[in-house]
Amino acid sequence: MSPAPQMPAGALPVGAVTLSPRRLAVYPGSFDPPHNGHLDIIQRCLSVFDEVLIAVLVNEEKKPLFTIEERQEMFHEILGGDSRVRVESFSGLLVDFMDRVDAVPIVRGLRALSDFDYEFQMALMNRRLNPRVETLFMMPKEEYSYLSSRLAKEAFSLGGNISGLVPPQVLARLHEKMPNRGGA
Ligand SMILES: Nc1ncnc2c1ncn2[C@@H]1O[C@H](COP(=O)(O)OP(=O)(O)OP(=O)(O)O)[C@@H](O)[C@H]1O
Ligand SMILES: [Mg+2]
Repeated sequence: MSPAPQMPAGALPVGAVTLSPRRLAVYPGSFDPPHNGHLDIIQRCLSVFDEVLIAVLVNEEKKPLFTIEERQEMFHEILGGDSRVRVESFSGLLVDFMDRVDAVPIVRGLRALSDFDYEFQMALMNRRLNPRVETLFMMPKEEYSYLSSRLAKEAFSLGGNISGLVPPQVLARLHEKMPNRGGA
């Protein structure tokens, strides 16, 4: 009798066929609005994982410029053609959301040393709350390493030209929100 075929850990046997589980990463943030640093991280995720779920945090305390729906719509406009990307919103604990969507890795972007302290604490707290979850960090292209949503909004509102830092769909939305402001 021949030995049983080896199955990768976690693989699902379906009849005679073996399906490997899809590798899903969750990329959480407030994304108010999405910018090219975020898109850079999403593309890097897609080179490592099969699917990326962008998890838009509902946090009204941050006084967002864009509603949750608008932020999700922007992602759909930018990445809607890519079936490997999904967008959902969540509130409450990220680790509980990770259980609901049955994902293991949280992906976070690291721009500079200044991000490290907060991200380190958050990763360890999340691990303590849910040991099943892992946090992975990715670095963006150097040209986006100073970019944040806050800075992009601030520069735009003061008349700065931020094309090249946000996708055109986001630039158009910023013009709608703040008419006669941005320099491009
Ligand atoms: N320029 C960037 N390059 C790489 N990762 C980034 C960049 N900006 C943000 N991120 C990462 O994206 C995730 C979501 O961050 P967040 O929504 O807070 O964006 P942000 O640009 O920092 O916005 P805000 O200025 O409102 O804090 C985090 O993991 C954050 O580190
Ligand atoms: Mg931030």
